[in-house]
Amino acid sequence: MADFGKGDHCLVTDVKGRKYLLILEEGSVFHFHNGMLAHDDVIGLPDGSVVHSSLGGRLIAVRPRLADYILNMKRGAQVVYPKDLGAILIWGDIAPGMTVLEAGTGSGALTMALVRAVGPSGRVVSVERRQDHAAHAKRALDEFFGGIPATLDLLVGEVVDQVAEIRPDRLVLDLPEPFGVVDAAVEGMPAGAIWVSYVPTIPQVQQTTEALRGAGCFAEISNFEVLHREWNIDGRSVRPDHRMVGHTGFITVARKTHEG
Ligand SMILES: C[S@@+](CC[C@H](N)C(=O)[O-])C[C@H]1O[C@@H](n2cnc3c(N)ncnc32)[C@H](O)[C@@H]1O
Repeated sequence: MADFGKGDHCLVTDVKGRKYLLILEEGSVFHFHNGMLAHDDVIGLPDGSVVHSSLGGRLIAVRPRLADYILNMKRGAQVVYPKDLGAILIWGDIAPGMTVLEAGTGSGALTMALVRAVGPSGRVVSVERRQDHAAHAKRALDEFFGGIPATLDLLVGEVVDQVAEIRPDRLVLDLPEPFGVVDAAVEGMPAGAIWVSYVPTIPQVQQTTEALRGAGCFAEISNFEVLHREWNIDGRSVRPDHRMVGHTGFITVARKTHEG
């Protein structure tokens, strides 16, 4: 990796593990509880450097991972957490070269992961019904990728209007009523394509599962959640952290078939 340059993302972490996301600009100064850090003191350093604030605070400067970026970026709509992004990518089998239809774009966090997963030969079409969320996501995606990637189309509208047009290999839904998209998926998803939806409550999961089952052309319907528990390893204190993200959402995965 090249040394930090102007316009690069940099994550600085203090001794207590507090993280701050910076976009490095010549002449800019980052202020925090432990003094100031001039961006110019980071520009030109290699990834993983140790820097010191004006009050002697020790900071580690690294290039943020996608997970760091998502957890520290400005959010509009609630983002998909990294623990769930991993599961969506793997159980949805999002792979290079695929065409993915996503909705809603929200803050663009899931979109970032999808665009990376399909690679330069794939395509992501992300649909958002709210203008304000779409504008927020566009800014975030532009900032994250340093421009909107050629493989990404951002649309404002209703996802049901896009499924037959796009005929996606993968349909990825993070919206409150995925069950309302089932009819469009029956019509527009090719056989073999995979449905992934993500909702916060069990009644939504139940309605989605019943709608998928009722359609008669979805197989291998599965519902699950992902629990991620950090552990504290410090001398003889070897135990789970006191705090954890207790609940985010439930993931539903299904495969479209020729039946129905
Ligand atoms: C929870 S947010 C999505 C967050 C996003 N996955 C992320 O990681 O940043 C849900 C979004 O879906 C949008 N939405 C809800 N129903 C929709 C629909 N039928 N078509 C398109 N967008 C929809 C909402 O406006 C909202 O912005």
